[in-house]
Amino acid sequence: MLKNDPLWFKDAIIYEVPVRAFADSNGDGIGDLRGLTEKLDYLQDLGVTAIWTLPFFPSPLRDDGYDIADYRSINSIYGNIEDFQQLLDAAHDRGIRVIIELVVNHTSDKHPWFQRARRAPKGSVERDFYVWSDSADKFPEVRIIFQDFENSNWAWDSVAQAYYWHRFFYHQPDLNYENPAVQDAVLELADFWLSMGVDGMRLDAVPYLCVEEGTNCENLPGTHVFLKKLRGHIDSKYPNRMLLAEANQWPEDAAKYYGAGDECHMNFHFPLMPRLFMALRMEDNFPISDILKQTPSIPNNCQWALFLRNHDELTLEMVSDEDRDYMYKAYAQDPQARINLGIRRRLSPLLGNDRRQIELLNSLLLSLPGTPVLYYGDEIGMGDNIYLGDRNGVRTPMQWTADRNAGFSRTNPQRLYAPVIVDPEYHYETINVEAQQANSNSLWWWMKRLISTRERFQAFGRGSFELLHPENRKVLAFTRTYSGQHILVVANLSRFVQIVELDLSAFNGMVPVEIFGRTKFPAIKEYPYFFSLSPYAFYWFTLQPQQTYIETPKPLSKLPVLTVAGNWKDIFSQAEIKSRLESILPNYLSSFPWFGGKNKVIQSTEITEVIPIDYQQKKLL
Ligand code: BGC
Repeated sequence: MLKNDPLWFKDAIIYEVPVRAFADSNGDGIGDLRGLTEKLDYLQDLGVTAIWTLPFFPSPLRDDGYDIADYRSINSIYGNIEDFQQLLDAAHDRGIRVIIELVVNHTSDKHPWFQRARRAPKGSVERDFYVWSDSADKFPEVRIIFQDFENSNWAWDSVAQAYYWHRFFYHQPDLNYENPAVQDAVLELADFWLSMGVDGMRLDAVPYLCVEEGTNCENLPGTHVFLKKLRGHIDSKYPNRMLLAEANQWPEDAAKYYGAGDECHMNFHFPLMPRLFMALRMEDNFPISDILKQTPSIPNNCQWALFLRNHDELTLEMVSDEDRDYMYKAYAQDPQARINLGIRRRLSPLLGNDRRQIELLNSLLLSLPGTPVLYYGDEIGMGDNIYLGDRNGVRTPMQWTADRNAGFSRTNPQRLYAPVIVDPEYHYETINVEAQQANSNSLWWWMKRLISTRERFQAFGRGSFELLHPENRKVLAFTRTYSGQHILVVANLSRFVQIVELDLSAFNGMVPVEIFGRTKFPAIKEYPYFFSLSPYAFYWFTLQPQQTYIETPKPLSKLPVLTVAGNWKDIFSQAEIKSRLESILPNYLSSFPWFGGKNKVIQSTEITEVIPIDYQQKKLL
């Protein structure tokens, strides 16, 4: 069951899943909605709390479904609308939310709106669903995104006898947001899916909605006006929904997609992502600390979406030319691995299949300020196939078992929508869910433990963020604080052992307790705190007041008091108050003689179920 919490996305673990690539239920070689529904238990077990499904709408599939020909139904290769409703219900039963795509910067040229527009009279509402021009010279300041495929943002339409505007492939004409009928149509689409119960929508390519002469046609005021309208519309009709912007922009422009907390709830932190990889290879925390310093603070009801990889190339649009060269040299020596302005590789191959580096980057993904978005298959370290063309090499079938087609499909292997990975290093017979679940030392188990550890501490999702400034820049260190809970993260970005001194005087007297092993470290004093770290090591600590560690339990002389506004029963239903209660329970519980374990510490408590007791009836009994 889903919690009634409008800020649920702050504590979420989001899992990005292309329906086509995950699980094939009917043996046609293509993943489908039923297949995904069957795998929800797997995702729940991993600790996922929200899935983000890639486009599953009718489409010519020339851009993997981001070229939509009908927004209101399901591509028959993936199932039908009942299958989708079943997925939604089954996910909700497991407490998993569902985020879908709202791709409304452009449509496919096969969409009836475009077919109608190209035949409609010039100047008509129907024609003006798209952006037309008599020449291909308009908007010269605008960059080309798919540089390897397109050489203009204009394409000639022989039926309309005019050029139409497109920011992506030529067969994806951009909608015209100057036209109020387009805006209304988009609100109706949002209604269609939200009224079915969808929890969130990723707004694909959102910076490019509006165009204006003399500008680069990105982040224009009209786009923000429309987003406020969309948000107001959704807020007035549907509780607890979330809009996730895909705004691949510099931090200052990206932060504008939150408005004053009245546009999108979330936005991907595109500039941070490549800098995590840079910092690792340069063995220097500067790329990370610098970009975080440049990131404006955002409204309280908003959250960054953090990611390492996704279904696209590892984009290098938000780095300087110099940094891009560095990234290509460091991570894509093979020109085949490059596409547009980015690198088409998965996480594991990017990091040379080095388990320590994979763990380190994931530990940052799950502890830096934001909500982590995991890419399917990265939890088992899946490989890629850079020879497949476009970005298809990172979209191959999920590897479930060592059986035929990696357990993804029962079909004839020749019929698969894409070949499974057979690269010797990443062969599906070795890298698969079944094999990793059978070995508790596997990456899968490690990821599962990391996720469940994050879920125990709300400070990761909701806490403030304070960067520490050690002299040794090979170490990244920061704290997260929420509701009296303090977390310290220390990460060694270097391939060699490092020592670091941290100024933790703000926590003077507190005890760092390593979260995974619950090992108590020496108490913090005023002078610098010293750590030594093995190559690529990272530590997560809670900083506990010393008195939590009562050697011999003594009953508390006074019961702890929790002051709440409103009804006391809210302590069980409102996440923020519940977490305050959970944070005072360890002290209280360890004061009982029955707890008594001299060497044991209650690190944290979690209220998992609330059972109402009828007090009157109990008394009678
Ligand atoms: C999606 C891409 C897609 C493009 C055009 C992007 O932002 O992530 O996969 O090709 O939009 O729709």
